[in-house]
Amino acid sequence: MSLSLNEARRLLTEATPDEVDALMAEARRVRDEVYGPRVFMRGLIEVSNHCKNDCFYCGIRRSAKCSRYRLSEEEILACCRKGHELGFRTFVFQGGEDGWFTDERVCRIVENIKREWPDCAVTLSLGERGRASFERLRKAGADRYLLRHETADREHYASLHPVEMSFDHRMQCLRDLRELGYQVGAGFMVGSPGQTVETLMEDLAFISEFRPEMVGIGPFIPAHGTPFGDRKAGSVELTLRLLAIIRIMHPHVLLPATTALGTLHPQGRERGILAGANVVMPNLSPKEHREEYALYDNKLCTGHEAAECRACLAARIASTGCELVVDRGDFQ
Ligand code: 5AD
Ligand code: FES
Repeated sequence: MSLSLNEARRLLTEATPDEVDALMAEARRVRDEVYGPRVFMRGLIEVSNHCKNDCFYCGIRRSAKCSRYRLSEEEILACCRKGHELGFRTFVFQGGEDGWFTDERVCRIVENIKREWPDCAVTLSLGERGRASFERLRKAGADRYLLRHETADREHYASLHPVEMSFDHRMQCLRDLRELGYQVGAGFMVGSPGQTVETLMEDLAFISEFRPEMVGIGPFIPAHGTPFGDRKAGSVELTLRLLAIIRIMHPHVLLPATTALGTLHPQGRERGILAGANVVMPNLSPKEHREEYALYDNKLCTGHEAAECRACLAARIASTGCELVVDRGDFQ
C-alpha cells in the first residue's frame, strides 16, 4: 500500500476506528519488511541545558528561569562507558545551543568515543551551526545529526520562534548536513500552537522531498513559564497516526517512539512501536541532571524509561511483538 498525501490527509482527519487499526497494522508490516520486528536503542546524553535561543515552546529557552548545567568531557565519556556496557551502540549528544560546546571540544569528544568504541555510531543534536562546523564534526567521526525542522510552513515557523531565528537558516542547515554525508534526522512536534492540517501536510510533503533518514515526532507538551505554557498538549492519537503514515510513506525511515509520547501516555512508546516506530532513546545522562533537562513539564526522567532498566525496557518492547537489539541500527 502506498499512500498519497490526499489519502494521508483523510486518514488524519476522518478515519474510522477500523481504518486506524488497519493503518497501524500496515505500518507494522512495512517496518517488519525492511527492518524485521526489531527496535534499535540509542543512548541519549543530554549534554547541556544552556541555550542561546528563545523558542516559544521550549522549557530550556534562554529566558526560562531553570537551573543550568553542562556535562564535562569526562562525564560524557563516563556516560558512554556505562552505555556501552548496557548494550548501546549509538550515542546521541543532545543539548541546547551552548557556545561552550565549541567545534574543538565536540570534535575531541567524538574522536575519543570513536577511538574507544569503534563499533558505535555518534549522533549529534546540538542545534544550528555553520556549515564549516558541521564539516569539522563530520570529519571527527560524527555519523548522524538530528535537527528537527519543527514545521515546514514559514509563517508557522515564525509564530513558534523569535524573529532572530530563521526558517531559511534551519533548512540550510539540513541541506548542509545532508551534503556533508550525515544521516540526517528532521521532525516536528504534533499539536504545536498554530499547527493545522495544512501545515501538517506541508511537513509530510517536506519529508517526501528531503527524505531524511530519521524523523522525530512527538506531541507538543506545554512547559510552564514559557509563552506557550498554558496551551494544550498535542494529541497522542494524532501522533500515532502520523507515525504510521510516515512509516508507510517511507518504509526505510528510522522512527523513534519519543519520550514526549511516553510522557503523555503510560504506554505511549509501546503504542508508538505498534504504529511503526523502530527506535527508542533511553536516557543515559547522569541522574542528578535529568530533571534539569526539562524541555516540557512532567518529562519522564527517572524509572523505567531510563537506560538503567534494560530488562524492563526489553520487556516493554517485547510486549509489542518486537525485539530490542544490540546494534548500531543504521539506515538501510
Ligand atoms: N514539547 C514537546 N517537544 C518539545 N521540544 C522542545 N520543546 C518541546 C515541548 N514543549 C522538542 C523540539 C526540539 C526537540 C529537541 O524537542 O521539537 O527540536
Ligand atoms: Fe534552545 Fe530552541 S530554545 S534551540
